[in-house]
Amino acid sequence: MARSLLSLALALPAVRAMNNGLARTPQMGWNTWNHFGCGINEDTILSAAQAVVSNNLTALGYEYILVDDCWQADARDASTGAPVADPSKFPNGIKDLADKVHDMGLKFGIYSSAGTSTCGGRFGSLGFEEIDAQTYASWGVDYLKYDNCYNEGRAGTPLISYERYNNMSRALNATGRPILYSMCNWGEDGPWNFAVDIANSWRISGDIYDNYDRYDSRCPCTDMLDCKLSGFHCAMTRIIDFAAPLLQKAGPGKWNDLDMLEIGNGGMTFDEYVTHFSMWALAKSPLILGNDVTSMDTDTLSIITNDAIIAVNQDPNGSPASQMWIHAVDGGGQLELWSGSLVNNQFVWAVMNTSPSNQTVNVSLLDIFTDQGAAFGSGTFTMYDLWQKDADGAWGAKVADVSGSMSVDVVTHGVRVFKAVPVSSSRRAAGEL
Ligand SMILES: *[C@@H]1O[C@H](CO)[C@@H](O)[C@H](O)[C@H]1NC(C)=O
Ligand SMILES: *[C@@H]1O[C@H](CO)[C@@H](O)[C@H](O)[C@H]1NC(C)=O
Ligand SMILES: *[C@@H]1O[C@H](CO)[C@@H](O)[C@H](O)[C@H]1NC(C)=O
Ligand SMILES: *[C@@H]1O[C@H](CO)[C@@H](O)[C@H](O)[C@H]1NC(C)=O
Ligand SMILES: *[C@@H]1O[C@H](CO)[C@@H](O)[C@H](O)[C@H]1NC(C)=O
Repeated sequence: MARSLLSLALALPAVRAMNNGLARTPQMGWNTWNHFGCGINEDTILSAAQAVVSNNLTALGYEYILVDDCWQADARDASTGAPVADPSKFPNGIKDLADKVHDMGLKFGIYSSAGTSTCGGRFGSLGFEEIDAQTYASWGVDYLKYDNCYNEGRAGTPLISYERYNNMSRALNATGRPILYSMCNWGEDGPWNFAVDIANSWRISGDIYDNYDRYDSRCPCTDMLDCKLSGFHCAMTRIIDFAAPLLQKAGPGKWNDLDMLEIGNGGMTFDEYVTHFSMWALAKSPLILGNDVTSMDTDTLSIITNDAIIAVNQDPNGSPASQMWIHAVDGGGQLELWSGSLVNNQFVWAVMNTSPSNQTVNVSLLDIFTDQGAAFGSGTFTMYDLWQKDADGAWGAKVADVSGSMSVDVVTHGVRVFKAVPVSSSRRAAGEL
């Protein structure tokens, strides 16, 4: 057994990813932008960090406290060119803030743009990569979200985008401090192809909008593989559509970022937010909360603390799920089957219902296990429902031992997520044991 695992490991190609050792599983944390926008100050960040700790979110993996745009002063330091924080919002400076966040057992992140200005009109880092990276490192920054506004047209081919984003990647490396590099170029020029060695994650689309499926012409793409203008106001399920063909590109240290979470911000129903959290987890997207964590209702808290779903996202295999089929529903919308593999020969699968009505669907195990083959899919599996609690109150109640097919009820705009564990007798029959 040990011998065959070793030869398997030797047969695998060298894993390519950014060489800072970070984000071996998708990063988790909280960011200011989706709820607070530019309305931030030192207290916004410290209160959120305190709430992450007091709600026990750290134990679940939420680790990074991220300051997004609008932390900057009106201008850089006139003599050195170094970045400076807005003294009215951050009277004690960023280093003091990072120290306080570190003292709570959390990590600290900041934001800039690979352009002359940030999206909020503050100074950007284009041409200032080295001094900015050095300054962030001296402040104790652990994470950089790096946007794409005002890029002076240095985009349009993967090579130009690569060079612009690689300049910051190299500057971060040169600091000697491991700083997670979260690229936010909205999928432009295909970062899932050009950025796997230079960034820990890359956004795949325009900004998320806190809505389930509203069409918005400001998010004009239908397909990120052929997209000229990523835009923004992208409804949650549109981002899932964009992600579907790209997920194979991700893995440990290099993730597709479906954008920050909107759970708790009020634009979607409970079932829609359950879909949002589940599908981001299956896609192995970073899970970055974007709500006001200092005031969460019980529905919000129950979704973001589902440790069975988080375990899917944080599975050490780092293998994103795939979309196995789409079935159109009469009256609009569709059913989608997704499945993926986890460590220890376990699997996760989900059925998503974007239609306006409750649906029941008969799912064939051969479809769930397409990638493992018909002999494997013909076996028997113990199914656990990751949104049902067991008798001890733990997420992931056992449903049944299933072979052949399983009938699944999915409410409108909802999702069902199951873990599948092969029953050993059928693994023996398949010659596996
Ligand atoms: C910088 O890159 C080198 C290899 O290119 C790597 O060994 C090192 O760990 C990196 N350092 C940081 C801080 O990311
Ligand atoms: C956090 O954990 C502590 C200790 O286990 C517990 O007393 C407290 O109720 C928890 N708080 C929340 C909000 O779950
Ligand atoms: C990357 O940095 C180099 C050296 O500073 C600079 O000449 C080049 O223009 C930069 N590339 C892009 C695309 O910004
Ligand atoms: C859909 O299912 C939910 C949950 O079982 C139920 O509350 C709701 O009434 C159903 N809606 C319709 C239109 O049947
Ligand atoms: C479900 O599908 C399987 C094959 O995929 C079929 O054998 C079975 O009869 C179906 N069950 C129902 C209730 O339609």
